[in-house]
Amino acid sequence: MNPFLTLLLLYAITTITVSSSPHSTSTSPDHFFKPTLSSSLSSSPSPSPSPSEEPQEYLEVTRPLPSDRLTPCSTLSVIHHSFGNTINKPPFSTPYYPPLDCPPPWSHVTLQFSARSKGDQYDRISGLWLGGSELLRTSTAEPTQDGIFWNVRKDITRYSSLLVQNHLNFTLMLENIVNSVYTAVYHVDVTLFFYKDHAVTPPLTPKKSDQIIQLANYNVDHYQSPADLIIPVSSMEDSSRGYWFIIEKESDIHYKKVRFPMNTRKLVLELYASFHGNDEFWYSNPPNSYIRMNNLTTRRGNGAFREVFVTIDNQFVGSEVPFPVVFTGGINPLFWEPVVGIGAFDLPTYDIDLTPFLGMVLDGEDHVVGVGVSDGISYWLVDANLHVWLDTKSESVEARSVVRYTPGSVINRKEAFKLLDGSFSIRAQRVSRLDGWVKSSGGNLTTSVMQVFRYRNLIRFSKNGTYKYVTQNIRTKRQVKVMDSLGVLVSQVVVRRKYPLKVVTATLPGSEEDRYVLVTNVTRSVNDRYRDGRVSRSVHNKQVSNGWMEVKDHDVLNGTAMTNQTYSCKDEFGCYVRIVAALDGRLIADNSSLSCPSVM
Ligand SMILES: *[C@@H]1O[C@H](CO)[C@@H](O)[C@H](O)[C@H]1NC(C)=O
Ligand SMILES: *[C@@H]1O[C@H](CO)[C@@H](O)[C@H](O)[C@H]1NC(C)=O
Ligand SMILES: *[C@@H]1O[C@H](CO)[C@@H](O)[C@H](O)[C@H]1NC(C)=O
Ligand SMILES: *[C@@H]1O[C@H](CO)[C@@H](O)[C@H](O)[C@H]1NC(C)=O
Ligand SMILES: *[C@@H]1O[C@H](CO)[C@@H](O)[C@H](O)[C@H]1NC(C)=O
Ligand SMILES: *[C@@H]1O[C@H](CO)[C@@H](O)[C@H](O)[C@H]1NC(C)=O
Ligand SMILES: *[C@@H]1O[C@H](CO)[C@@H](O)[C@H](O)[C@H]1NC(C)=O
Ligand SMILES: *[C@@H]1O[C@H](CO)[C@@H](O)[C@H](O)[C@H]1NC(C)=O
Repeated sequence: MNPFLTLLLLYAITTITVSSSPHSTSTSPDHFFKPTLSSSLSSSPSPSPSPSEEPQEYLEVTRPLPSDRLTPCSTLSVIHHSFGNTINKPPFSTPYYPPLDCPPPWSHVTLQFSARSKGDQYDRISGLWLGGSELLRTSTAEPTQDGIFWNVRKDITRYSSLLVQNHLNFTLMLENIVNSVYTAVYHVDVTLFFYKDHAVTPPLTPKKSDQIIQLANYNVDHYQSPADLIIPVSSMEDSSRGYWFIIEKESDIHYKKVRFPMNTRKLVLELYASFHGNDEFWYSNPPNSYIRMNNLTTRRGNGAFREVFVTIDNQFVGSEVPFPVVFTGGINPLFWEPVVGIGAFDLPTYDIDLTPFLGMVLDGEDHVVGVGVSDGISYWLVDANLHVWLDTKSESVEARSVVRYTPGSVINRKEAFKLLDGSFSIRAQRVSRLDGWVKSSGGNLTTSVMQVFRYRNLIRFSKNGTYKYVTQNIRTKRQVKVMDSLGVLVSQVVVRRKYPLKVVTATLPGSEEDRYVLVTNVTRSVNDRYRDGRVSRSVHNKQVSNGWMEVKDHDVLNGTAMTNQTYSCKDEFGCYVRIVAALDGRLIADNSSLSCPSVM
């Protein structure tokens, strides 16, 4: 049987078994779906469809892109395709050619992913690749009978070395199921906008804001000019299910053979990862002992710690505990309309500087880059891009790895429970360091990379398992220091991230025998800080959601929900702040400003 089908069957079975113990929160949070008849929930409790309204726009709150105030010198439509029953079908592929009317180099390139859909559907995951390198990991919003639409814009300037090439294929995977129950088709358009600096339009806004928008970037650590070459670490041999690697267990480590150019002077691996099925809410999974002791049927176990790791020639070189992105059907789907969860439309990626490792791979031979998920269960979708900078003035460089301090992560787990009540705590930490020098035509530079993460998670069940409390914090620090041969500091970049999360769920009896009510509060934030000696940049992005819903199986029948979000960022040019509030599917406040708040 097609392994993908097996995966789906597994998922379907899990979906059914999960609902067999409705009054226990051991399986929450979960993945839900809003059937049509309740699409306008509390505003229209009657089962007859409400009068047709305009399609609703969905959005992920973020900042303007650097190119938003520029006029593109070329606009290229690269994908125009509808994703119906795409399950078990290969992804959509189409050849790409760079724009003739706007040849490279470009100052910026922006990608726009626009989607619309109408009907009933679960949220779906999607990946976009160019020549097998991922450019965007996104997920869909759950549509309604009146229809919904959204636009995701991402700065893809860092992928310029792919975008200049002829004949590469754009590939889009959006696995969707259309049948008599799930009727909605996703109509997707992908458009690229190419910019040259000289095409700046006269400023429409005060000069200060123009500067911010022109120079600030989406990610705090996109400080580099685009790489000369991008090598995909993705499933090139079997792309019949998309280019991502499907990871179903810890031992599923996927490998890609890579031969590095002999004149590589700098190397950064960019990691893409998303979690699904039994690991969609990995941060709230209890240990297997709890599931076994209580004879629970859920497969959402293996504890709450996950680490995506990268190896070269089977040696650990870096890892990441990812930000807990919640898709639009997750926890309580009413929270994520029309403002989706942080990262749901543009999943974060993680950069790992591997320059110190060049001494081990610049020998003209094949090397094996691997990706895997510690403690992972079915399933994760993971792949990576190797961004390679070359010494264009020479055929080869000389490099040596000097320090390789990569001890395993230290994990401390505690559990105490009696029947359905109890608590589970995990503390984990990893500190690693790689040093190496590269002698290129630019001199002999030593790069020293330090990666640290600290992870804490607590899950507590009470009231006979009907009340579940989850808190988690992920703190990471990455430091990249470059010194010349005299020991003089050339550059030093420090990126710190904090990802706190809190999910509290109470399960109550529903209005009928086979129904239950979930009352949930969710708070999450992204706090990123970048410092490079001269410049400091920060992003604070916080969502607070409260609400309840009545559920039968996985269908949401009734409920009310509110999500408030505050996004603020600050860099060398100024600030941007946006505050939104959504209540029962409508935006009730949306304010943005360019003035810096007193406390950042
Ligand atoms: C939804 O819940 C509200 C408040 O409890 C109730 O008044 C309403 O009748 C419910 N609607 C349906 C369709 O159950
Ligand atoms: C692009 O896709 C087409 C159709 O799937 C395929 O025949 C072709 O070999 C692909 N080209 C490249 C460069 O991968
Ligand atoms: C789980 O099942 C076993 C075997 O049927 C039974 O002995 C045990 O009491 C059950 N445990 C709980 C907590 O229900
Ligand atoms: C606790 O929950 C279990 C499973 O839902 C149920 O069988 C049991 O009767 C409950 N115990 C109490 C004291 O409510
Ligand atoms: C480059 O610099 C390092 C550290 O200063 C030194 O150990 C190494 O020998 C140098 N390499 C060359 C080829 O000079
Ligand atoms: C959620 O938050 C509200 C307001 O802070 C509080 O009244 C309620 O008890 C919380 N619900 C749960 C399940 O913790
Ligand atoms: C969201 O903000 C509104 C005001 O805009 C406030 O009334 C409400 O209590 C806030 N809700 C939460 C969940 O913080
Ligand atoms: C939005 O900003 C305006 C102007 O600064 C202010 O008067 C208003 O109270 C703000 N609204 C909210 C909901 O914050």
